[in-house]
Amino acid sequence: TAYETLLVENRGPVTLITLNRPQALNALNSQVLAELIAALEAFDKDDAQGCAVITGSEKAFAAGADIKEMSGQGFADMYGSNFFAGYDRVAATRKPVIAAVAGYALGGGCELAMMCDFILAGDNAKFGQPEIKLAVTPGMGGSQRLPRAVGKAKAMEMCLTGRLMDAEEAERSGLVARVVPAAELVEDAVRTASTIAGMAPLAVKANKEMVNAAYETNLQMGIQFERRLFHGLFGTEDQKEGMAAFVEKRPGKWTGK
Ligand code: HXC
Repeated sequence: TAYETLLVENRGPVTLITLNRPQALNALNSQVLAELIAALEAFDKDDAQGCAVITGSEKAFAAGADIKEMSGQGFADMYGSNFFAGYDRVAATRKPVIAAVAGYALGGGCELAMMCDFILAGDNAKFGQPEIKLAVTPGMGGSQRLPRAVGKAKAMEMCLTGRLMDAEEAERSGLVARVVPAAELVEDAVRTASTIAGMAPLAVKANKEMVNAAYETNLQMGIQFERRLFHGLFGTEDQKEGMAAFVEKRPGKWTGK
């Protein structure tokens, strides 16, 4: 499929999705949304693909939702179309999606990165929810995901002042998994994604699903959910293979069954 606002390429079992509106610092408009959802749905369906990476340019992951597209909209337009609720599909992807963030990840860009399963940051990354400066608020989950990632104090300060967080602070605060030199970011993210794509596919989905459950349940229910999924994997061929391969000191060969 050809996209106008994205570059999508398969690097072996890794789907690399590059936001590509450089003239607008990858601002997220309706076309980006539609294309990103289409690309992620194709990725989720393709048995040959095991993990996706979403990235931008070295200057900007995405500088936010497209302010020029939003500026003329009224309440009826926004509420009536449930503006950008379509982004819920990103977090609903069943296979893992890594955000590789260099440069600006602001507003909707920060929110898109946080919808991914984890963030790898280039050392020049800058995260922020500066919507308050436009007299609005985060609208794609930022007010909920940012406090879960960095705690209330930093999230509240960032939302109320619009200040940006650099890569070093983002790692210290738990927003990003790791910081790497910006020039090596995509390569590192694809390598990390390849490692994940090399794991048994059902175990990958189960691990993702249960870590996400930690943000939706109380501890006892979450532990119960984990245990049931863990038990369930003993009904798979790949569990037999994985444990046999360990005992026989060889790599496992997965069937995804
Ligand atoms: C539309 C944008 C844009 C955006 C940048 N551009 N951000 N267009 N929407 N969010 C455009 C600029 O208008 C400009 O186009 C070109 O990209 C380059 O940007 P500059 O500002 O010239 O670059 P620079 O001086 O380097 O400054 C970079 C920047 C700044 C600090 C990132 O662009 C900026 O502050 N952008 C807005 C950040 C923001 O407020 N994001 C939150 C958006 S609200 P021209 O044509 O002039 O050259 C949001 C809500 C989410 O995200 C919820 C939705 C449901």
